Amino acid sequence: ATPAEEKDLVIIGGGVAGYVAAIKAGQEGLKVACIEKRGALGGTCLNVGCIPSKSLLNNSHLYHQILHDTKNRGIEVGEVKLNLEQMMKAKDTSVAGLTKGVEFLFKKNNVEYIKGTGAFADEHTIAVNLVDGGETSVRGKNILIATGSEATPFPGLNIDEKKVVTSTGAIALKAVPKKMLVIGGGIIGLEMGSVWSRLGAEVTVVEFLGQIGGPGMDAEISKSIQKILGKQGMKFKLNTKVVKGDDSGDIVKIDVEAAKGGKEETLEADVVLVAIGRRPYTAGLGLENIGLEVDKRGRIVIDQEYRTKLPHIRVIGDCTFGPMLAHKAEEEAVAAVEFITKNYGHVNYNAIPSVMYTHPEVAWVGQNEAEVKEAGIKYKTGTFPFSANSRAKTNQDTDGMVKFVADAETDRILGIHIVGPNAGEMIAEGTLALEYGASTEDVGRTSHAHPTLSEAFKEAAMATYGKAIHY
Ligand code: FAD
Ligand code: NAI
Repeated sequence: ATPAEEKDLVIIGGGVAGYVAAIKAGQEGLKVACIEKRGALGGTCLNVGCIPSKSLLNNSHLYHQILHDTKNRGIEVGEVKLNLEQMMKAKDTSVAGLTKGVEFLFKKNNVEYIKGTGAFADEHTIAVNLVDGGETSVRGKNILIATGSEATPFPGLNIDEKKVVTSTGAIALKAVPKKMLVIGGGIIGLEMGSVWSRLGAEVTVVEFLGQIGGPGMDAEISKSIQKILGKQGMKFKLNTKVVKGDDSGDIVKIDVEAAKGGKEETLEADVVLVAIGRRPYTAGLGLENIGLEVDKRGRIVIDQEYRTKLPHIRVIGDCTFGPMLAHKAEEEAVAAVEFITKNYGHVNYNAIPSVMYTHPEVAWVGQNEAEVKEAGIKYKTGTFPFSANSRAKTNQDTDGMVKFVADAETDRILGIHIVGPNAGEMIAEGTLALEYGASTEDVGRTSHAHPTLSEAFKEAAMATYGKAIHY
């Protein structure tokens, strides 16, 4: 066999973490190859995650709004019909455009794209099983593992992606289910639950904890969005655990009981969405061949510079520590390449925003009130409701609020939590404020254009150090 070609950097995984690192490395003049096995670049996010889910969220929202929220606006429409096949096609078009776009960026930045499954043959060599058949291998002075994550299965339920689905099946259903049961009231459960509820399914969410939204969401905000989603028709069973499921028939039966033990009940649905979290994916990577280990939760262990105990091998994105978010993976990708080329890199893990793309959206950055309280910090809060914001009023879209959590003594912002229209865009301003160490008074004394939703952001800041004007 011919000796494997040597690169400065070999990346395993072409998801957001891997492809961003590849482009950055190309820009920095490194000889770089990126190995991806799914036949398309962009990973979970572009192919079966962020992008397809947001396409469905956007279009299902439009459909729902046209059905229920036009008459009062003076718009009378005729017969409204759902064409699910076309809605799925629109989603596929967005996905294809973006994944092809990444392939173009690879070419532009001299990244070699190897379509296949990579596994460690030794500490510097990756053996690749090519998608189109055959094998090859590539050597790397540096290697970056960016193999991502997969849905955590529910013991005893057989995921066929039709009747019992993860998010991957939930973005590709062929028909609107009559009844959908969602196990796990985190971000995936609420986003995908929203899509199918808007399209006509009767959606029930079973959540183990006493609040929805998954880790990090402020309790006050969680209560607010639960109420809003409830008005839209979603049903919630909190403090409830799924004991077992039976998916042998056409209708799936799920036994649930109170989390603390007690009352049992059997729920039935034609589609069950399992959304109880994701776990790092490192299967088949051959970590054992080079003596690398994963922790109890399957994460590859690394240091502050993303290095494993073999310092030329680094790990970023969903397959290691931190929130499983695309923009977190992207920050790490740039930092990891900079550690290789410049010996320094930086990610501020205290200022990574989270957004849930329901309607209205929920977005936050920094610590929530419970976390600040638990840390024993003296704090103050300030809120402002969208019902008192002029733009939200003109848009007739007034559910939700902005909430600041700040240090009681220094007024420095500790966290910002929003439920409301456009929260996902608005949180960028909050992230910048946090990144720059702003106080609530800094934000409150910054002019915000009128009439915009972002005035609610300014006024919530004002309410934290003083008083809001319009509430
Ligand atoms: P991945 O995107 O999972 O990419 C890893 C890639 O590595 C995969 O393509 C895989 O095929 C490849 N791979 C694995 N092993 C090998 C191997 N041995 N050889 C070759 N290739 C391999 N995050 C957000 O920030 N915003 C959102 O709106 C959002 N929405 C989401 C919606 C859903 C339904 C889901 C499931 C996730 C969502 N996420 C969102 C999370 C986001 O998708 C992940 O955080 C992000 O994709 C992580 O990027 P990654 O590169 O680490 O991993
Ligand atoms: P999650 O961690 O957000 O939520 C899982 C929920 O399931 C939690 O509330 C948990 O308490 C509950 N749960 C766990 N076991 C349970 C059980 N046996 N019975 C009932 N409830 C149970 O995980 P999710 O929603 O699966 O999403 C995975 C990850 O994907 C997210 O953490 C996020 O990182 C990423 N993601 C991000 C999105 C975004 O940024 N908009 C969108 C979708 C996913």
